[in-house]
Amino acid sequence: MALIIPEVLSRTQVQRFREALDQADWIDGRATGGHLSSAVKRNIQLPEDHPLALQLGDAVLAELERHPVFMSAALPAKMVPPLFNCYAGGQHYGRHIDGAVRPVAGQSHRVRTDLSSTLFLSDPEEYDGGELVLEELGGSRPRYKLAAGDLLLYPSTSLHWVEPVTRGARIASFFWTQSIVRDNEQRAMLFALDNTIQQLRRDVPEHSAIVELTAHYHNLLRLWADV
Ligand code: NI
Repeated sequence: MALIIPEVLSRTQVQRFREALDQADWIDGRATGGHLSSAVKRNIQLPEDHPLALQLGDAVLAELERHPVFMSAALPAKMVPPLFNCYAGGQHYGRHIDGAVRPVAGQSHRVRTDLSSTLFLSDPEEYDGGELVLEELGGSRPRYKLAAGDLLLYPSTSLHWVEPVTRGARIASFFWTQSIVRDNEQRAMLFALDNTIQQLRRDVPEHSAIVELTAHYHNLLRLWADV
C-alpha cells in the first residue's frame, strides 16, 4: 500500500530547496545505485556527503519528525539521510528493487529498507514523463507524479521504476526508513487503527471507549515492535 502525504514541504521551502539545488554540482546517479540497480539507473544525483545534501536532508528529516501522518504510517526506527536526484533529457530508472540493507555514509550502522520515500520537488507541469510506477501484488501498476512538496511512502518490497523524462527536469529527494514494525500488513493495520482513534477523538472526544481502543493500539504495537 502506497501512501501520498501532501505538503511535507511548504511552497516557500520547495522554492528555497530548488534555488539551492540549481547551484549544486551533480554527479552520475550510478555512484550510489549499488550493483543491483546501476545497470538500469540513468539520472544525476547529489553526492551523499555533499554539504547541501546533508543540509537539505536534515531539513527534510526535521519536517518528517513532526509530521503526524508520516510518523504514524512509517513508525520509523532508523532512516537513511535523504538524497537528491534529477532526471532530464530522456533519463529514467528502469524496473528494479531497492537493496534490502543500506549503509549510512560516515556511520557504522546500516538500515533495513522497509519503506521507500520519494519527496517530489518539481511540479508535474514542469516536466513530461517521470512517473514513479509501482508494481503491486495483484497486478495493479499505479503511477505517481505528485505536486512539489508532496511525498510518496511505499513498501520497499515493491518492484518499481521511473519513466523517462522527455521534457523539463524532475527533481526529487528520496530515502529509506527502517520501521519498528517490519511487516507491511501489521504496520498498515496499526496506521488504520491510529486513524480511527484520531477520528473518534475529533468527533466524540468524551467517548469512554477511546481509552480501550488506545490500549489495543499500544498492546498491538508492543507485540509487533522491534526496538
Ligand atoms: Ni528505487
